[in-house]
Amino acid sequence: MADESPPRVLEREIEVVSPTGFCFGVKRAIESLEKRVEECVETADGVKVYSLGMPIHNPQEVQRLTRKGLKVVDRIEDIPPGSYVFVRAHGAPPSLKENLVARCGAANVTDATCPFVKNAQDKAAFLSGEGYEVLVLGDPGHPEVQAIVGCAGCEVMVASSLDEVEALNARDKLGVICQTTQKVEFLAAATAILVPRTRELRVFNTICGATTQRQEAVRDITSRIDGLIVVGGRNSANTTKLVEIARGNQCDVLWIEHAGELSTEWLADKTRLGIAAGASTPDWLIEEVKHAIETSQEPRGMEGL
Ligand code: F3S
Repeated sequence: MADESPPRVLEREIEVVSPTGFCFGVKRAIESLEKRVEECVETADGVKVYSLGMPIHNPQEVQRLTRKGLKVVDRIEDIPPGSYVFVRAHGAPPSLKENLVARCGAANVTDATCPFVKNAQDKAAFLSGEGYEVLVLGDPGHPEVQAIVGCAGCEVMVASSLDEVEALNARDKLGVICQTTQKVEFLAAATAILVPRTRELRVFNTICGATTQRQEAVRDITSRIDGLIVVGGRNSANTTKLVEIARGNQCDVLWIEHAGELSTEWLADKTRLGIAAGASTPDWLIEEVKHAIETSQEPRGMEGL
């Protein structure tokens, strides 16, 4: 006979990792973007502000901003001359910023480059100016890395793995900087490889504090939970690192972008849960996920597991 009893809400301990979610740089960028959107008058096609590329790597938050009048485009040619335009927290190469100013006017360009990213850009320019060959440790396809490379004003090497660092030849003067979201272990191991093969090595640790704190908090929680839910965009570099760290600690991880991706099967046998989020994940998404877990019911046939 079919079980007609109502499904039970499973009691769980849920710990939201602290700190988690929006970092200083993303919060600052979103605030300036929203302010700009509020100030601007809508064009005939309903657009107030253009962003070249995703303003942050979180599709749900970008959707929310799009409803307020943001339009994301992939090419500068898609921005009508004289429009309001937004430079995201990841920054942009100087040549691109110059083109935006020429097309839209300096007063119409809001530059929300995160100060920590700006620091990495300045260090790249400094090293190049001092005659160092420049190596960036990071993902060559990531806009932040592309902006740092553009700021160096010289040919720049980019390595995203220790194998790529190993493959580099001996150098006379080498300067190293890091994408702000990299793991400190990567920087340390890369430096250890480079020391014996470089006559003069200068390393700037440009990993940002927000990244390190979020990574340490994830490392810390993994020993006391049955599973970790990581909320963040699939294209978010810092979210990817949180997932890697938790899995490296043998923690069962569910990576989702929003509450609709929660899996009752994955939740079924877990009574102590952690929730972590990337630096571009808004609080409202984290809250939605927490609420969905708190009200989730045991799937039929799993009661008592
Ligand atoms: Fe800036 Fe660090 Fe956030 S570089 S954008 S504060 S992750």
